[in-house]
Amino acid sequence: MPEKILVADDERHIAEGLQMLLADEGYEVDTATEGNTAWKLVQANAYGVVLADLRMPQVDGLELFSRMRKAGIASEMIIITGEGSVESAKEAMREGAYDYLEKPLKIDRLRELIPKALEKFQVKQANKQLEERLANLTRFVDMIGQSDEMRAIYSTIEAAAPTSASILIVGESGTGKELVARAIHEKSNRAKGPFVAINCAAFPREILENELFGHEKGAFTGAINEKQGCFELADGGTLFLDEVAEMEPDIQVKFLRALEQRSFRRLGGKKEISVDIRVVSATNKQINKAIEDGKLREDLYHRLAVIPLTLPPLRERRGDVRLLAESFLRRFAEENSKKTLKSFAPETLEFINAYRWPGNVRELKNAVERAAIFARGEQVTLGDLRAHELISSEDREVRVPVGTSLQQAERTLVLKTFSFTEGDHTKTATLLGIDEDELRNRLNQAVAAEAVPA
Ligand SMILES: Nc1ncnc2c1ncn2[C@@H]1O[C@H](COP(=O)(O)OP(=O)(O)OP(=O)(O)O)[C@@H](O)[C@H]1O
Ligand SMILES: [Mg+2]
Repeated sequence: MPEKILVADDERHIAEGLQMLLADEGYEVDTATEGNTAWKLVQANAYGVVLADLRMPQVDGLELFSRMRKAGIASEMIIITGEGSVESAKEAMREGAYDYLEKPLKIDRLRELIPKALEKFQVKQANKQLEERLANLTRFVDMIGQSDEMRAIYSTIEAAAPTSASILIVGESGTGKELVARAIHEKSNRAKGPFVAINCAAFPREILENELFGHEKGAFTGAINEKQGCFELADGGTLFLDEVAEMEPDIQVKFLRALEQRSFRRLGGKKEISVDIRVVSATNKQINKAIEDGKLREDLYHRLAVIPLTLPPLRERRGDVRLLAESFLRRFAEENSKKTLKSFAPETLEFINAYRWPGNVRELKNAVERAAIFARGEQVTLGDLRAHELISSEDREVRVPVGTSLQQAERTLVLKTFSFTEGDHTKTATLLGIDEDELRNRLNQAVAAEAVPA
């Protein structure tokens, strides 16, 4: 796309002369012979450079320039000035105009000036875009990920955070549920209030109840002093209930009541205590199944999941894997004072991209931290990453029950090896001790056999 330029001069022959000249140089050029028209044009078009006469009727060059600055229009400005007004042109330059041209115009100087001004404009634009991208990236300070899936999560967080609606986060272990819960709190108007987290799976029934609701002095043997529970501690802030599907059914009833009324009684207490809390909960369980199995009350589920949020496993947002790995590497290299450790070796990166990461972001983070400690050179090797230890023994085994035909056993081994190498023909053939043509035959047979219903 040719760069656009505006020439504004009340002397029509100058405006048109410049237009012809610059069009010959390959630019797309508009003209205006009065300031008002020029002002309308700069608002409607993205000009790289605006050449404007200092003296024009209605809106003069300086006024045009100052309006553009106020409106945040980024075009570079070159002032055209007649004899005797060089001082004003210089003044405009001090205000940020790119340069000035004196009448009578010198063509060579014009030819020299325009590309430079355009270049400055383009650099400024590129910087602006970069800044916007960075601002986007740091919207969630601790959260890394630019995949569509993560962007959708960010939008939900931004929309939901300012409300007091309960949010239920569902996702496999290590997908970042607690991180999201904290982000919701940070982005809410409760950010200055407490963030209280409790893991429902960590306590036996009675203790969980006590942790949640607290107790009065003398409520039970050993209750020497009164104790505040999480409900009270989170007043004015956010209560994060981790592994919420692990709560015993009778506590669920009590909890539901407290949630609905935003008030509760301490154990052994008579007084209703009102609280202002937002509840965020998390589970790595299949919700439908937990409800079907009677583990999670459906009415509580609906209370907790006013806004449901599902965190996809890492293997379903492959695009984020490298971003996460590299950012963890920067961080752990710095924490371990490894100044020369900068990147992953190509084969390490290949492994990182292909591996399933069943433990999700947590597993990746831990693996990179360990690698950063072991690494000696500038690049993280497969050995540093302990890649062979990551692949679970289950993934490396073929179980063949007695009664399996030799042909079937062979097929299973071929397919398993193929998936273990993430579909790498050369590696699979090498591991199986056959050549690649032979592998292709066997794969075709295996796939055909699988397709036939037993
Ligand atoms: N998008 C992300 N960007 C950066 N770090 C992340 C991201 N997601 C998760 N992590 C990191 O991975 C680790 C695990 O995250 P978190 O504890 O939030 O997972 P979780 O879903 O609560 O897991 P679990 O179900 O096992 O409790 C944390 O150290 C967290 O900081
Ligand atoms: Mg967690």
